[in-house]
Amino acid sequence: MSELISLTWDDEKEELSLLDQRILPNTINYIVYKNGDGIYDAIKDMVVRGAPAIGVTAAYGIYLSIKDVYENNFEAFFNIMKEKCQYINSSRPTAVNLSWALNRMLNKAIESKGMPVNEIKSLLKAEAKNIHKEDIDICRKIGENLLTLLNDGDGILTHCNAGQLATSKYGTATAPMYLAKEKGWNLRVYSDETRPRLQGSTLTALELQRAGIDVTTITDNMAAVVMSQGKINAVIVGCDRIAANGDTANKIGTFGVSILAKYFKIPMYIAAPTPSIDLNTPCGEDIPIEERDAKEITCRFGVWTAPKNVKVYNPSFDVTPHENITAIVTEKGIIYPPFEENLRNIL
Ligand code: MRU
Repeated sequence: MSELISLTWDDEKEELSLLDQRILPNTINYIVYKNGDGIYDAIKDMVVRGAPAIGVTAAYGIYLSIKDVYENNFEAFFNIMKEKCQYINSSRPTAVNLSWALNRMLNKAIESKGMPVNEIKSLLKAEAKNIHKEDIDICRKIGENLLTLLNDGDGILTHCNAGQLATSKYGTATAPMYLAKEKGWNLRVYSDETRPRLQGSTLTALELQRAGIDVTTITDNMAAVVMSQGKINAVIVGCDRIAANGDTANKIGTFGVSILAKYFKIPMYIAAPTPSIDLNTPCGEDIPIEERDAKEITCRFGVWTAPKNVKVYNPSFDVTPHENITAIVTEKGIIYPPFEENLRNIL
């Protein structure tokens, strides 16, 4: 079966296509963006989601937003670009990959100051393409590093979708699953459904099943039972932001999974591209946590599953304290505690 790619860039037409993840697994539809209009909404409404994919989308999005700015004066051009970056950056607060990618684009413009604006635009396009390509390489390396911690036949529990759909290719948490498949290994993957947006069942189960990987979907409240039955050898999840002390924000429910993993003495691995590590955020309490619409919980598919107007609390992410993490696995290597020191050393 053909693989699902979260985003593609057509260099000739200068178009970004995003797979509309809101309607998976039932419908495969790509939305085409020819300019920057709609990029903010695509990220906010989760047409595209997952920290690395959001970053890559933002990089192309800012290029699309400035390519038709006909301004020869650098300061004037840069001010427009900065404003557009601020707008896209305000779409979702938790994944640091968003501001990381936008800052990279801004820095590219700053270092090109003095060149004609048209040339700067070409360099910005090239930078977005670099970010895209690097994401693929990063994910593959994370997969190689994670694979050294696993054995053929292992059971892996994952939460949310840190898969190919959340990145440019391979995913982060799913990268070792794809590489294991290439090697002829059989990993057994348990994919938490991941309430309330169901990224685990609608996305992770879909992409792994299409790749011929052994995947079993469970609801979030079944994780403890599956672990107690000895079916899980490792938990592997992605991340949206890792603070300087190793506290890690990821999809709501990850914290609970980490407590279970600790209880059952199962290693808890964070698959982490280094752009997700934010040394400017000292600890988990400082990570901004997005709260999303109440209807994600009460009226998910147009059917009310709670009384209308009931009070709702819907934090989209939680923070796993660093004490619950066995290792943070990056493209540059595997980081063990003490995280504060070892994260600094690897960057
Ligand atoms: O709200 P989402 O679907 O964007 O949340 C995604 C996650 O929490 C992922 O685990 C994280 O971004 C890592 S993706 C490689």
